[in-house]
Amino acid sequence: MLKGRDVISILDFTRSELEKIFREALKMERVQKLERPLLKDRLLATAFFEPSTRTRLSFETAMHRLGGSVIGFSESEGTSLAKGENLADTVRMLDAYADVVVIRHRIEGAAKLAAEVADVPVINGGDGSKHHPTQAMVDLYTIWRELGRIDGLHIALTGDLRYGRAASSLMYALTKFRPKKVSLISPASLKPRKEIMDFISGTKLKFSDEEDLKEIIGDLDVLYVTRIQKERFPDPAEYEKVKGSYRVDPELLSDAKKSLIIMHPLPKVDEIDLQVDETPFARYFQQAAYAVPVRMALLALLLGKAM
Ligand code: NCD
Repeated sequence: MLKGRDVISILDFTRSELEKIFREALKMERVQKLERPLLKDRLLATAFFEPSTRTRLSFETAMHRLGGSVIGFSESEGTSLAKGENLADTVRMLDAYADVVVIRHRIEGAAKLAAEVADVPVINGGDGSKHHPTQAMVDLYTIWRELGRIDGLHIALTGDLRYGRAASSLMYALTKFRPKKVSLISPASLKPRKEIMDFISGTKLKFSDEEDLKEIIGDLDVLYVTRIQKERFPDPAEYEKVKGSYRVDPELLSDAKKSLIIMHPLPKVDEIDLQVDETPFARYFQQAAYAVPVRMALLALLLGKAM
């Protein structure tokens, strides 16, 4: 039962719940055109304390497409937080005004705290480096839609696997499925955090640490690229050491399977050569577009209004 639930971590969901969201999202892809007002008179509050383009706007688009409305802010300067109000008090207000709240915050655990304070469902739109559960839903849905399955695939995650919450949530999410293999490729200082490695080691997920993307590119079904999270580096000198240390370009892709898909949670900076955008491998813009039906499905299910 998804009605009334908070969405804090992807680990809170079973495989069959995720598959229910996918099925619903597939229906929503069609509804986008029909614009059936499933959530008429319902209100979504977006509380974004950190920058966002896709997450906030796709949630807002999803709510509008379902016939609901949206309130919120995308920087705390314009709110009473700037006057010293604490997060819990701000959340209490959103709880009183809205039917569902999406929160993004730089502090890990902020969404969990908000969920404890609010009665309405709280959705974590990203908390520091920790979780980004709805991005993981979008990512799984993209693989499922583009390749028809998640099980049996060779999936590589590259880039900043340490500070990137999208990559972290996807690693957790993949433990719910049975990919053939998950390859993790990143510079030594950007390897996944111990808590994640400990967790996935305790599951049946087949994963391996790889040094060189070139060596495995020919076997991959999915290449998931991420941005180095400059803003989360405790030491700027550390960032300087790893910046530009990996790059996906046409030369690397000359050995790839024709059916390979390249994904990226976006924003991308310089980790993917612009020429790759024009190739059939590039699915990151489609991935960003799938965010709308997936978030429509999630909002409808949380508010008990699924089709
Ligand atoms: C990501 C995020 O904010 O965690 N973006 C997103 O939500 N699509 C990835 C990033 O900032 O690199």
